[in-house]
Amino acid sequence: MYQKEFPAGSYVIRENEVGAHLFVSAEGDFEIMQDGKVLGRMGPGKAFGELAILYNCKRTASIKVVNDFKVWVLDRRIFQLIMVRTGLQRLEDNISFLRSVLLLENLSTDLLAKIADALEVEFYPAGVHILRQGTRGDTFFIISNMNMRVTQRIPGKCCLISNLN
Ligand code: CMP
Repeated sequence: MYQKEFPAGSYVIRENEVGAHLFVSAEGDFEIMQDGKVLGRMGPGKAFGELAILYNCKRTASIKVVNDFKVWVLDRRIFQLIMVRTGLQRLEDNISFLRSVLLLENLSTDLLAKIADALEVEFYPAGVHILRQGTRGDTFFIISNMNMRVTQRIPGKCCLISNLN
């Protein structure tokens, strides 16, 4: 990223123009405007200009500087490079995690990559149920990092409990 300064009253972004940069405000305030109306005012530490970069669309709003303004600028090309690299790194991490799962050890790397691509991480606080006996199953879980208890209600018997690490 590099720093840029804008004088009061100038525009950092103009609505409907093509976007090539993402910004993070460092000093000063700015207004977000759409169709000439002010939607809000913000100060330092805010990221903006991400929509046109992420979704390859025209700028959805104008950003007008209220008082002398300093921003950090990131070029679209660098932003996209970072997104691609972090995406690839996440995929590699997921594949190597899946390789450590006994049930999947015989699958090819291609197949593991497809599963890794579809994986979603979910966090569960202590004490909650991940799934309940008798409910419809439409999700396959792989434990990454926790201890859990599996219980089963068997008619006429007490609860069966086992602990998994
Ligand atoms: P982008 O469309 O690239 O350029 C204008 C930016 O203004 C946009 O990305 C968002 O970062 C920001 N923006 C658009 N609409 C709003 C809104 N309603 N509230 C806050 N920020 C917005």
